Amino acid sequence: VQSALADGPLKGRRILVTSGPTHEPIDPVRYIANRSSGAQGTAIARALAAFGAEVVFVTGPADMPAPGGVEVQRVETAQQMLAACETALPVDAAVCAAAVADWRVASASPSKMKKTAGGLPQLEFAENPDILAALSQRAENRPGLVIGFAAETDDLEANAAAKLKRKGCDWIVANDVSEAMGIMGGTENAVTLITQSGTERWPRMSKYRVAARLAGKIADVLTGSD
Ligand code: CTP
Ligand code: CA
Repeated sequence: VQSALADGPLKGRRILVTSGPTHEPIDPVRYIANRSSGAQGTAIARALAAFGAEVVFVTGPADMPAPGGVEVQRVETAQQMLAACETALPVDAAVCAAAVADWRVASASPSKMKKTAGGLPQLEFAENPDILAALSQRAENRPGLVIGFAAETDDLEANAAAKLKRKGCDWIVANDVSEAMGIMGGTENAVTLITQSGTERWPRMSKYRVAARLAGKIADVLTGSD
C-alpha cells in the first residue's frame, strides 16, 4: 500500500505531527497525565502518509498503535516532546495534535515517595514549554505551515481565534469538547477550522475523515493549488 501511495500530492514534503498525552513524573512510579487517546493525531499522521508525505510522528504514551510508514519518536514528557520536535526540523508543516500537559511537577522525586505518619505530599508545579508556540515563533527553521488544535468548552470560536493569535500559528482546529460527552476518547469529532482566510464549520464525522480533509487542505496549501 505504502509504495502505491508514495506518489501522492505530499510526496517529498516532510511533516511533523505531535500526538497523544504527555506523562509528567511525580516520582519513579507515579505521573500526571490526561485522557487523550491519541486517536486524532494518529489519524492525521496516517492520512498525511497516505498522501505521500514523509511524516515524523512524535507521540506521548498512548495505547493507539502508530500508523505504518511514518518515523515514530516516542516521548514521555512535554520537555522531551519539544526536544524531539526541534530535532525533527526543518519540516514543511507541523500539526500539533498532542494534549501536552500544561504543568509538570517542579522537582520530581528521584526515589519513590513513601507514606509518612500524618504527612501529605506537597507538590509544586512548573509550567511546561508550549510546543505549538515555540514552533510558531521560531526565528530559524519555522515550519512553513503550523497547525494547532484548541479544545474548548465555552466560546469555541472566540477562544480558538485568540489562541491562534497568541501562539502565532497559521491554522487552528477548534474542537468543542462540551457538545457531546465522549468526543474525547471517541471515534468522531466535530471541528471548526480557523485559517487566515476564514472559518469553516465541519460537520461531525469520523476522526479519520477529519484527518483526511485536513491533509487535503495541507496538500492544497503546500502545493500552491489553493
Ligand atoms: N500545546 C503545546 N504545548 C503545550 C500546550 C499546548 O504544543 N504545552 C498545543 C496543543 O498541542 C494544541 C494547542 O497548543 O495544538 C492548544 O492546546 P490547548 O490545551 O487547547 O491550549 P493551551 O494554550 O494549553 O490553553 P488552555 O489549556 O489553558 O486552554
Ligand atoms: Ca492546555
